[in-house]
Amino acid sequence: SPSSHGVPEVGNPPAFPMTRRCPFSPPEEYRALREQGPLVRVRLPSGQHSWVVTRYAEAKQVLTDPRISTDPTQPGFPTTNPESCEAGQRPEGQFIDMDPPEHTAYRRMLISEFSVRRINQLRPAIQRVVDQRVDAMLAEGGPLDLVEWFGLPVPSIVICELLGVPYADHEYFESRTRTFARLTTDPAEANAAVRELRGYLAELVARVEREPNDGLVSRLFTERVATGELTREALAGMAFLLLLAGHETTANMIPLSVLSLLENPAALAEIRADPGLLPGAVEELLRFHSAVDWVAFDRMAVEDVEIGGQLVRAGEGIYVLGASANRDERAFDRPDEFDIHRGARNHLAFGNGVHQCLGQNLARAELEIALRTLFERMPTLRLARPVAELPLKSDSAIFGLAELPVTW
Ligand code: HEM
Repeated sequence: SPSSHGVPEVGNPPAFPMTRRCPFSPPEEYRALREQGPLVRVRLPSGQHSWVVTRYAEAKQVLTDPRISTDPTQPGFPTTNPESCEAGQRPEGQFIDMDPPEHTAYRRMLISEFSVRRINQLRPAIQRVVDQRVDAMLAEGGPLDLVEWFGLPVPSIVICELLGVPYADHEYFESRTRTFARLTTDPAEANAAVRELRGYLAELVARVEREPNDGLVSRLFTERVATGELTREALAGMAFLLLLAGHETTANMIPLSVLSLLENPAALAEIRADPGLLPGAVEELLRFHSAVDWVAFDRMAVEDVEIGGQLVRAGEGIYVLGASANRDERAFDRPDEFDIHRGARNHLAFGNGVHQCLGQNLARAELEIALRTLFERMPTLRLARPVAELPLKSDSAIFGLAELPVTW
């Protein structure tokens, strides 16, 4: 049984989470933390202490070690927002917060839906969505905000089509996702947004029960709920996770990627001349930006475990700093350089171990098709505002640009 609940509060460690101030870099403090050691103590907003993992090898160890759990209902589990209605909770079906074997059962229901083969079959549909958004931008004329016109709608439409969620509701679910992903939102407002979204997805499940469609949620209803394998609540929880993870992550990565390529014209010219370089460039973009950082990587030791020479006791909380691990000089040469030739596929932007991103093949396909099409069809695309003046989503759980004004 756990010998302690939470990391003992010793000294006055740095406040966590830390803030990004530049679109191309993790929080500045990460470099010093990484030098300090692979495992460093931090202070959460509640005053509770936690460990953070700063280096690549230890990050991978933590993400793959069965003695380290992701179940937030356990005493001592770390939270950056104790007032959230989700703190210490795990709604039914939220398998990102489950350990094996419970997690495995959910993952099995979904794995073939997100396989390389299945995602390749979706490529024409993704291409159609991307082309429609480029048509809309060309019709509108520049300057316009690429986040609003392209970055957000592409993954949002794609995940709606895949799940069978009506895209007509996009403003509803996108605005509530933004509200609760913002770390500075008033807790009451954030909690209301989460409850509304959960209610929306419960209603969606009720709707597919009445009127089946050809989306994934409806299919899971027919194949798993109707057979008694899954409850309605668990299906709504799965749909919540898939809808949020499916749009908010890629929506930030597309504009960040466009910005990086515009700022690296030599790399962009190479990709244009040889589109075969694009998949490698996408891996580097994922590593370099690490838009999903610690927020997905909350963990707790359930047995005593040694990490980077430090004993972590059962009941102690750990956050993996994915954005720091992806800039670890022990794992990547010249880690702060953007280099499309480095072969970055071993990055941790999608995590590692049993929770490694279920949607990674979809995210890669969306990024490849979006970037290739955008630069092909808008060859003179350029920034309409200097980089230093771009508004950042520094206060969001998933990093991104609040706006990317472009013209052509
Ligand atoms: C898990 C990142 C796109 C669905 C994760 C994790 C990361 C991540 C880091 C691991 C969390 C952990 O270890 O606990 C990203 C990034 C994306 C992206 C950077 C875009 C560039 C997507 C998309 C979907 C998706 C498009 C589509 C549905 C999921 C799901 C999980 C997950 C369901 C939980 C997997 C599990 O617990 O077994 N993602 N993701 N993600 N992602 Fe993604």
